[in-house]
Amino acid sequence: MVKQPIYLDHAATTPVHPDACEAMIQYMTEVFGNPSSVHHFGRETRKALDEGRTAIARAIGASPDEIVFTGGGTEADNLAVIGYVQKHRKPGGAHVISCATEHHGVLHALEELERDGVDVTYLPVDEKGNVSAAAVQDELRDDTVLVSIMTANNETGTIQPIRAISEVLADHAAVFHTDAVQAVGKMPVNVESLGVDMLASSAHKFNGPNGIGFLYVRRGITLKPLLHGGSQESRRRAGTENTAGIVGMKTALERSLSELSDREETYRLCRRTLLEALDESGVDYLQNGDPENGLLQVMNLSFPGADVEQLLMNLDLEGIAVSSGSACTAGSVEPSHVLTAMHGDTDRSRAAIRFSFGLGTTGDDVQKAATAVDKSLARMKVK
Ligand SMILES: Cc1ncc(COP(=O)(O)O)c(C=O)c1O
Repeated sequence: MVKQPIYLDHAATTPVHPDACEAMIQYMTEVFGNPSSVHHFGRETRKALDEGRTAIARAIGASPDEIVFTGGGTEADNLAVIGYVQKHRKPGGAHVISCATEHHGVLHALEELERDGVDVTYLPVDEKGNVSAAAVQDELRDDTVLVSIMTANNETGTIQPIRAISEVLADHAAVFHTDAVQAVGKMPVNVESLGVDMLASSAHKFNGPNGIGFLYVRRGITLKPLLHGGSQESRRRAGTENTAGIVGMKTALERSLSELSDREETYRLCRRTLLEALDESGVDYLQNGDPENGLLQVMNLSFPGADVEQLLMNLDLEGIAVSSGSACTAGSVEPSHVLTAMHGDTDRSRAAIRFSFGLGTTGDDVQKAATAVDKSLARMKVK
């Protein structure tokens, strides 16, 4: 019998929730108008768009006019970082504070700004991946226009002290953006309690479709658009809206949030199962991240002495889909920038595998993954 492959890479992308799929079909077949059209077909689609915007805003404690639909998390991050700084930089220059472990959607947008003369401070993290609010305070300058710190890390799951950072910024003019791509739909996220001004999210991380996301922009904040064309999204993002995607994203977010506590129970079980099974088989590992303050569905483990590319291939042969670092940098032999910021360029940073759980993951899947790790390491003569 052919073994069913086991998908433990939900931090890279997720299967679309069946309800989201079903909800979308209608908006690709019957209700397909352009939401900007004045006729019946357009009005029907506009209604779906408005409902989607309202539901998504409500889910994060925002108002509908504060939601800008984008083509995913990268675009939302770029719009926040580049769009805000380009609009608000002064002739004398501008300063941005961010962090070494951000996703490339933020880091590469910042590099683009640096090439254009913007000064960027990248805060370090401790060995669990945490940035400190005090460090943000220390680096604040009169010309700091933006602080961008992610809510939860995609490689380790570490959750940053967003509320504490927003308190530090309370008396400063800098606006606060958070990349919440890994957090939305996986933990309670409320823009008011977090105290953020902009927040990026992406549907395919919470069982919505690929290529759709949103940026929350606090009312009153202006941005220079990245795309030029029609006046969609209140002139903040030109282009015909992806109505089916928005309907799918709304449905997926609603399902994720209503199933949150049940899923958390499963992820706790998966975490326990993985570690216990590895312990039982005598596998040597180090846990990366902050288990006390991290996403339950992400587990990053280093297997000392292992060649990670070889281990990934062996696991794939065993039918286990996991990743090393983030999917966007997979295929490169460079160690993860996240783990390097936490542990330096060490064996620990180079020998890490991310297991990430999601819709449909069971304790049995994780048990099988642990067995496959044991078998692979033995085959690689690391154990
Ligand atoms: C933390 C984080 N930010 C941004 C992104 C980019 O999102 P998207 O794939 O929707 O462009 C990802 C996806 O891997 C991510 O994990």
